[in-house]
Amino acid sequence: MNNIIEIRDVSKTFHLSEGIFSASKDKIKAIDNISLNIEKGKAIGIVGESGSGKSTLANIIADIIKPDSGEVLYKGKVVNRKTPDYKFYRKNVQVVFQDPYSSLNPRLKIFTMLKDGYKAHCTDNNYRERFIDIFKKVGLKEEFLYRYSHEFSGGQRQRISIARALILDPEIIIADEPVSALDVSVQSQILNIFKELKVREEKTIILISHDLAVVNFLCDYTIVLYKGVDVEYGKTDDIINNPIHPYTKTLISASKNLISSELIENINAVCPFASRCEHFDGKLCNKELEKKYIGDNHYHRCNKF
Ligand SMILES: Nc1ncnc2c1ncn2[C@@H]1O[C@H](COP(=O)(O)OP(=O)(O)OP(=O)(O)O)[C@@H](O)[C@H]1O
Ligand SMILES: [Mg+2]
Repeated sequence: MNNIIEIRDVSKTFHLSEGIFSASKDKIKAIDNISLNIEKGKAIGIVGESGSGKSTLANIIADIIKPDSGEVLYKGKVVNRKTPDYKFYRKNVQVVFQDPYSSLNPRLKIFTMLKDGYKAHCTDNNYRERFIDIFKKVGLKEEFLYRYSHEFSGGQRQRISIARALILDPEIIIADEPVSALDVSVQSQILNIFKELKVREEKTIILISHDLAVVNFLCDYTIVLYKGVDVEYGKTDDIINNPIHPYTKTLISASKNLISSELIENINAVCPFASRCEHFDGKLCNKELEKKYIGDNHYHRCNKF
């Protein structure tokens, strides 16, 4: 297997400042001991509702957040800020953020913004042709290079964000909710750009979304997070057509209509989804959550199924 990224036993807890939150809630386990392999040229979806840990996991991969424990390997080597090839890693992993309104500097012309990004890693001056090529690739006109970001629509801004991620020719693109701020009509155009990058250029894509329909369009594999726990993982087809974990099932129905299950208060179980699960079982949900394999490449962590 050709893994470009391996995540090994990664955990991250956030400590909230005292005073605002009560003492019992001063820690949030955002990522709970997750391991994940990402193959080169594949797209993987990270799904889960708000607060489930998707961005934290993505930021750990991009080395924007340091995990408390565990490690991230790139092509078999631990990513380490102190090694000489670290700069190479930063160049090869680029992030596209959710909000194309706040992620582009309004004071700079697009060309200047792209040039700054390019110059941070390259010393040559052969960037103009490259910017024009990339603009074509993402469906933008050359003349747009010389305008400011406020002159563009949300969809165009997101194309610019993707162009910015592409100027250093990264191997891995992490897209954190890249379409959730956009109109439905524009969403599929943007997702198609990612699909082209994967199919034609063998880019590895890590796509974060709360919506399984978005992930289904692009991703070969899907990891489902709930309160930082990887409750299910598998080929996207299997996750959609044969979901086992009750939370995955809830997400699937949520992408068609809204979550119906009621919140049951005060259940304290090992399983993070217990308080919302219609299959709650006091004994089983309190046992250690093991990975249960139901195929070579499909596991879940529900003790009942
Ligand atoms: N810098 C931080 N300080 C404190 N808590 C944080 C911080 N970043 C994230 N968290 C908490 O960690 C948990 C996971 O957050 P994360 O942003 O990874 O979720 P998410 O799945 O990306 O959510 P969303 O869909 O809303 O973007 C949440 O409970 C969040 O409040
Ligand atoms: Mg997020």
